[in-house]
Amino acid sequence: MQAPHNPHAAAAADLRLDGRVAVVTGAAGGIARGIVERLALLGADLVLLDINDAGLAALPQWLAVHGRRVLALHCDVSDPHQVGAAAARVAQAFDGCDFLVNNAGVLPAASSIEDQSLQVWDDSMAVNVRGVFLCTQTFGRFMLRRRSGSIVNIASIGAQAPNASPPYAAAKAAVIAFTRQTAVEWGPEGVRANSVSPGFVRTPLSEHMYATTDMAQVRSAMVPVRRLGMPMDIAGVVAFLLSDAAAYVNGQDMQVDGGFMQSTLMRAQPPRGQHGGTGRGR
Ligand SMILES: NC(=O)c1ccc[n+]([C@@H]2O[C@H](COP(=O)([O-])OP(=O)(O)OC[C@H]3O[C@@H](n4cnc5c(N)ncnc54)[C@H](O)[C@@H]3O)[C@@H](O)[C@H]2O)c1
Repeated sequence: MQAPHNPHAAAAADLRLDGRVAVVTGAAGGIARGIVERLALLGADLVLLDINDAGLAALPQWLAVHGRRVLALHCDVSDPHQVGAAAARVAQAFDGCDFLVNNAGVLPAASSIEDQSLQVWDDSMAVNVRGVFLCTQTFGRFMLRRRSGSIVNIASIGAQAPNASPPYAAAKAAVIAFTRQTAVEWGPEGVRANSVSPGFVRTPLSEHMYATTDMAQVRSAMVPVRRLGMPMDIAGVVAFLLSDAAAYVNGQDMQVDGGFMQSTLMRAQPPRGQHGGTGRGR
């Protein structure tokens, strides 16, 4: 007897990304390591873009273990010629792409607004904002042509709350605004866009903050789940948002921070409830 149709059975397979092509920028970085491995495990072929050639070089062999096709290319996401050249290679190798993860980013050094260097401001905007726009426009054309696709932009909790780097805060807020713009313009064309805002994740980008201080312990104590984030924490959410399991999620920003951004009021309570916890001495 044939089993009755169960829509959940099909939906359970929706997290798979088999046979689809994902472009990941900043692919040689810390968070990207988690993302590309997760996408490969879920069945996606990968296009890896970065300016760090040494970092890129090791990836194809490492990912080939999962049996996926991998194309690693030098590409500065802020340069339209390099992004265009990368897209031409993607067209040649894969006839386009289905997913884009705009992950490349730079964290400018801490500065006050009055001392902020204009060059550093412009560099932050070039990679963090212009790069997201250029890659969305360029790789998005493949998805628009297919009338199907999903984009995840990596923003930051720094978009929602002031932090030590003014050009980072402004750039990441722009990423979230641009994500919403993409979601509404391209939703009718079958292309979704969402952003993920990581909290504290220890990677080459943030390592300077942890290397010489007790910042890891201080920050862990302030996060309700009591630890720093790991690349795989971010990777799971990115993979979900790319997948068909998130087919009705569009224009959202998902904070992946262990609850840190929800803990503001708790940290302003008398000592028992400090640092976002329950006050049970943990
Ligand atoms: N680590 C954190 O705590 C944290 C928190 C919030 C948001 N983020 C965001 O997550 C993303 C990944 O950060 P990460 O921590 O893995 O940093 P990372 O420095 O390890 O990785 C960033 C990667 O981007 C690449 N890159 C820089 N400029 C580029 C350019 N012009 N073109 C192409 N590639 C370029 C770098 O070479 C590097 O491989 C970034 O967008 C970052 O802003 C990180």
